[in-house]
Amino acid sequence: MAIKERLRARKRLFWRLMLPAGLIGLFLYGLPVVRYLETFIPMGVCPSAIMPLLKDNFTGVLRPWARPEVLTCTSWGAPIIWDGTFDPDVAQQEARRQNLTIGLTVFAIGRYLEKYLARFLESAEQHFMVGQRVVYYVFTERPEAVPHVTLGTDRWLRVEHVTREPRWQDVSMARMRTLHEALGGRLGREAHFVFCMDVDQHFSSAFGPETLADLVAQLHAWHYHWPRWFLPYERDTRSEAALSSEQGDFYYHAAVFGGSVAALRGLTAHCARSQLRDRARGLEARWHDESHLNKFFWLHKPAKVLSPEFCWAPAIGWRSEIRHPRLLWAPKEYKVVRN
Ligand SMILES: *[C@@H]1O[C@H](CO)[C@@H](O)[C@H](O)[C@H]1NC(C)=O
Ligand SMILES: *[C@@H]1O[C@H](CO)[C@@H](O)[C@H](O)[C@H]1NC(C)=O
Repeated sequence: MAIKERLRARKRLFWRLMLPAGLIGLFLYGLPVVRYLETFIPMGVCPSAIMPLLKDNFTGVLRPWARPEVLTCTSWGAPIIWDGTFDPDVAQQEARRQNLTIGLTVFAIGRYLEKYLARFLESAEQHFMVGQRVVYYVFTERPEAVPHVTLGTDRWLRVEHVTREPRWQDVSMARMRTLHEALGGRLGREAHFVFCMDVDQHFSSAFGPETLADLVAQLHAWHYHWPRWFLPYERDTRSEAALSSEQGDFYYHAAVFGGSVAALRGLTAHCARSQLRDRARGLEARWHDESHLNKFFWLHKPAKVLSPEFCWAPAIGWRSEIRHPRLLWAPKEYKVVRN
């Protein structure tokens, strides 16, 4: 009995010490040094039984064992693409052989246009699907303000007019509906695969056909080491985007998602519909369309997952596992661009 009592007392003491330590940790989270500690939370390892089965329509044979320090496949057998696990030349040739047209959509609304669009497009010309046929779709309420960017051969830019929603939350809401319509129209007829990206980032190295698949999701740079129950999913069970603490695989970033036209039609329809239902109930999901996107990817598993190397936030600080960032977030300046 006495031993049990002592154990209980020790446990109480442990939690009394852990709680303030946890709070201080959260407080210090802004410091990259403290944040670096999260790299010691293991991501898990791809089971060796799954490794030989990992391939897709573009990369051919993958080398998931080339990156033992990170998770290179999902529990449902989709590859997580890290630098060194794929051969970019094989993907390049395969995409050429299939004679693909790849779409890249981006929304440039309000001040996002002047601040980010030119750099986004210029860097895409240097790094996005070089050697493939590419069609950019820029959605904006001011087509006349879209900067002139010199395009390579077999690359086109289409500017689509959209009406501006008064609140930035609604701009983000309207995105899925607008994409859905575009995919059902000219974009859907022109492109085989489409990537949908945020404009406040720029390409820093090759983003090629190794990223293509039926349905592609991007691991969120800020959350890829976090335990599932801690991820910023929508938790309000009244919302269409809700995930319980037992649900969810990864936290995906809405700044990059892609896939075949048919798969993206399904994704955008799902998200637009869920947002409408939430709105009818007076709800708005925690991270807007990103919350709904995460729910969609829980219900419909992506065929390929991109490592945080494909969309990295330099503000996080140095990480040995981030070898070769492909897209870099611009520093967030919400005060400037959202008003
Ligand atoms: C490749 O696709 C383009 C555009 O869709 C088309 O004009 C061209 O004829 C195709 N080439 C071959 C070899 O099929
Ligand atoms: C590979 O291509 C086939 C036929 O086009 C398609 O049905 C399948 O979903 C593709 N696989 C992936 C992982 O994208």
